[in-house]
Amino acid sequence: MVAATTPAARRWAEALEAWAIPGEILAAAPESPWSFPQALFARAAARALASPPSPSRRRAVQALADGGEVLDVGVGGGAASLPLAPPAARLVGVDRSRAMLDGFARAAEAQGVSHEEVEGDWPDVAPEVGPADVVVCHHVAYNVADLVPFVAALTAHARHRVVLELTAQHPQTSSNPLWLELHGVARPTSPTADDAVAVLEEMGLTVGVEGFERPVGDGEEDLADLVPFVRRQLCLGHERDAEIESLLRRHGRAALRHAVTLWWDTP
Ligand SMILES: C[S@@+](CC[C@H](N)C(=O)[O-])C[C@H]1O[C@@H](n2cnc3c(N)ncnc32)[C@H](O)[C@@H]1O
Repeated sequence: MVAATTPAARRWAEALEAWAIPGEILAAAPESPWSFPQALFARAAARALASPPSPSRRRAVQALADGGEVLDVGVGGGAASLPLAPPAARLVGVDRSRAMLDGFARAAEAQGVSHEEVEGDWPDVAPEVGPADVVVCHHVAYNVADLVPFVAALTAHARHRVVLELTAQHPQTSSNPLWLELHGVARPTSPTADDAVAVLEEMGLTVGVEGFERPVGDGEEDLADLVPFVRRQLCLGHERDAEIESLLRRHGRAALRHAVTLWWDTP
């Protein structure tokens, strides 16, 4: 249900509602379509650590002094925050998934950086979390229908800056050709990062915007995790894996590659 009341926020929520999986397909799903695979996001974190600094990393580092503290909302494997230490000396990860938090904790431990994990849904758990110099939130926004309170809580926790990264288009856009071919269902193409910017500006935030191409895991190891992930999202069973793999190879994942860094400073 759409709770948002201002025009851009309502457009965002309505556009996300259109991504609801058709009832009869969802009813026949052998597994939940909504879980994120931990291994895939642990590798995203390792890739972020090994890659040259992205615009999101540069914008975050600009607002961090040596020994600073970072809050990472929807931390996954830690791709947004692990590359910020140093200069950051302490990372706090929030995620609704215990498996993701455990993976993040292991990676932070291996990197020798002080860390804390908070399990739960943002912004529900926000009152349990202290402020940080920089708040980062990568690849979570398209999961959030009610974007205004989510962003307001990010902003309220940042002493200096919020950096929000998202793909230019909804990340599941790359599976649209698979939905058409395997279910005969045309999926939406909005909202986009521009629609997110409209919501933030409607909130009165002055937002910096920088688009870039990010490295996306497309090796055989990633494909091995991606096939079951996409199969679950498509509400299909194991017997369709070969078909899904060949469609993934044919259509690629361009929608995941085009990313946008949004940032704003707090008073
Ligand atoms: C696509 S992953 C991105 C992970 C990581 N930030 C990255 O860029 O690789 C999204 C993560 O956000 C978490 N998540 C989604 N919505 C959330 C919410 N409202 N509160 C807390 N965690 C959330 C998921 O469990 C998942 O770990």
